[in-house]
Amino acid sequence: PADSAPAGSEVERPFSKVVVYGSGLMGSGIAQVAAQYNYQVTLVDLNQNMLDKGQGYIRSSLKRVARKKFADDASQQTAFVDNVMSRVKVSTDPVKPVEDADLVVEAIVENIKVKQSLFRSLDEAAPQHTVFTSNTSSLPIGQLLAATSDQRATQFAGLHFFNPVPQMKLVEVVKAATTSQQVVDSLTAFCQSIKKSPVHCNDTPGFIVNRLLVPYMMEALRMVDRGDASVRDVDTAMKLGAGYPMGPFELADYVGLDTLKFITDGWYKEGEGLVGDGLVAPSKRLDALVAAGNLGRKTGKGFYEY
Ligand code: NAI
Repeated sequence: PADSAPAGSEVERPFSKVVVYGSGLMGSGIAQVAAQYNYQVTLVDLNQNMLDKGQGYIRSSLKRVARKKFADDASQQTAFVDNVMSRVKVSTDPVKPVEDADLVVEAIVENIKVKQSLFRSLDEAAPQHTVFTSNTSSLPIGQLLAATSDQRATQFAGLHFFNPVPQMKLVEVVKAATTSQQVVDSLTAFCQSIKKSPVHCNDTPGFIVNRLLVPYMMEALRMVDRGDASVRDVDTAMKLGAGYPMGPFELADYVGLDTLKFITDGWYKEGEGLVGDGLVAPSKRLDALVAAGNLGRKTGKGFYEY
């Protein structure tokens, strides 16, 4: 079946116990797909309230999968959801779950200090074979693994999922300078075992997708700022002329304008050479929308109203 693998299927399974840090939008999606494909998962967050929210996301997403899989059979739907949920444990203990983990996927707040401090404490508690990964969108993997021991540096990589995780097929497997090829291979097999399509890239800003998409969205903003075309016409042009499912402004509203600003501010400050400052220079229009709290879909207003 497309949505779960039977136990004992032939797909290579390089890990058995997966620990996901952060039960927000991304972490709950990652926990869901791992559990759906028969991994034992522990989801960790700061408090029970956050974990309840995460489990709520997973349950409602699984119900949608179940309705598709077992259209006319409510009891099979319930059994499917309960079966997958039985593989998702939760914990507020920041360290204990990692003591027998094979794979750690970190999906906590996008703050380098907070992430480094988590990885530092996990490194002390985790067995040597445990592979550490981060789902960060914009922070260098090399700076995260610098918080851990030299031995862990070969066992550390980026594992970048896309939102919404259950629907989006792509995972970027990011190789830092010290990541071993064996770890890259295990992560590749892991992605395949949860029915995702892995791509590989080096540890450079934005990896593949965001490195191309972010300058594209900023170039669309500059075009509108110059008064050369309207927001709506740029979006229509890219949908009907380039075949993109969303125009750059619809996409920016979907991603969140605060997130777009956070990424470009981070890259811009890094200085010439990393991305090319002209590509990610601040936009007054973007700054004004963020300052006004108009962050896109999630607040009901960004470039468009929702
Ligand atoms: P979110 O805000 O929905 O969830 C973050 C969760 O982490 C929260 O529940 C928070 O309580 C928890 N958390 C914070 N500090 C923690 C700690 N020390 N230990 C355990 N849990 C902690 O954030 P979201 O959107 O899920 O993003 C998480 C990560 O995924 C970020 O690094 C982000 O860059 C990355 N990412 C986000 C994408 C998106 O579209 N939102 C896409 C791809 C990657």
